[in-house]
Amino acid sequence: MSDLDKRVRDVERAEELVRCLAAALSARRIYSHEHPRVKKAVRTFVSAIRAPAVGQPQICVTVTGHTLEYEGMPITDNTATLRLAMCLEEIRCSGVEFGTGLTPESAADFLEVLLRGEPIPAEGMRLPGVQLFPWTKEEEEEEGEFPPLPEFDVPLLVYRAALDVLDQTMEQAGAKNDIAMDDIEEVALWTAEESFSRGAQMVAPTQVVRQDKHTWQHSVNVFLISTAVLQPFAKDPRELARFGQAAFLHDIGKSRIPREILQKLMQRHTEFGVEILASCPDVDPLALEVAYCHHMRDGGHGYPKPFEGIRPGPVSDVVQVVDMFEALTAPRPYKGGLDVAEALKTILKTPGMQTKRGAMGLLVRRLTLAPPGSEVVLETGEHAIVLHTHDDEPLRPLVRFITDVKGVPIDKPFDADLRQYGVQGSRSPIRKVLLKPAYKAL
Ligand SMILES: [Fe+2]
Ligand SMILES: [Fe+2]
Repeated sequence: MSDLDKRVRDVERAEELVRCLAAALSARRIYSHEHPRVKKAVRTFVSAIRAPAVGQPQICVTVTGHTLEYEGMPITDNTATLRLAMCLEEIRCSGVEFGTGLTPESAADFLEVLLRGEPIPAEGMRLPGVQLFPWTKEEEEEEGEFPPLPEFDVPLLVYRAALDVLDQTMEQAGAKNDIAMDDIEEVALWTAEESFSRGAQMVAPTQVVRQDKHTWQHSVNVFLISTAVLQPFAKDPRELARFGQAAFLHDIGKSRIPREILQKLMQRHTEFGVEILASCPDVDPLALEVAYCHHMRDGGHGYPKPFEGIRPGPVSDVVQVVDMFEALTAPRPYKGGLDVAEALKTILKTPGMQTKRGAMGLLVRRLTLAPPGSEVVLETGEHAIVLHTHDDEPLRPLVRFITDVKGVPIDKPFDADLRQYGVQGSRSPIRKVLLKPAYKAL
């Protein structure tokens, strides 16, 4: 075998290892280490390293800026590997060497080290078949020198991962009626965990990224907003991930309808959605309910007509309100979308939506249209930078005024709390949120 062949085999082997490890880590995030799914994933990981070693018996994978590499070559970049890379960064690990001495026990221990998230000792860490290398001095110093990631970096990573998974899901569902539930579970759980720690912050990319039209952006936005809205009602991230998954899949039926005739057959996407999901093993009944009911309104309005007592429950109600809100506020080719207040009014006026006030209230409370760091234009015409978003009044943040009413920069910027402007719960004093360059890059 030539050197080149060996190298290709090594890269493939490194990719396979990382894929198996990422899958085991995903499973372990959801289930206990005794769960059959975790045990199976660990066994697969162990046999991947023990498979007849071509080239080097050991494989070393390094961490480079949210991704993993093998000898300078990036390793397949999906949600699971992205999260694995972030885990390694968190424990201050610059690389991992896997060897054939790996056992199911040491693999399981390694997963626990990753999930605990505590920095490894300065001299590194060794488990049978796994060697973890610590950050070098320079990496430590860099970390100290630079401020931590801006708070919207993680929401953006999650957003991009969700777009990727959704693209892949729609393609698979359209082509062969088969969807990769593992990937969806992974991205839903990641979003849920981040929503628990970051709250409404996770919604930020949905408000600023959508100028760049992306085919399934609507579904991703509905997924992120619904997850944020439902977070206070979930007892833990796993339960929230179930709600999020249902929102993620709400329009899955559209994958069955060719783009050219989508408008004509739009109403059928709810039943197609049920057909696709029902053919997936272990599908969550909640996902079926949301896919079927998210256009069903009270008093026989909307579609499809109620069937054998299947009615929208609370999660379907939230997804429905978020779905309408997203569609109404999304920019159209020739005009901007409605502003928040107009969108909410329009939803309330829609026949059969009056009873969904509860779900609407939840949405309003969780909306953070202007994340910290974004520039906004106020109703007065003044420009300001958002400094802090209050949980109780997300549409009235603390801001720093930077221009006068004509948009001319002022000499002495000053801070003000927009909660002091107008009555609580009334229209937001923010007219528009300006795009930030960081979000445009997505
Ligand atoms: Fe829909
Ligand atoms: Fe939708």
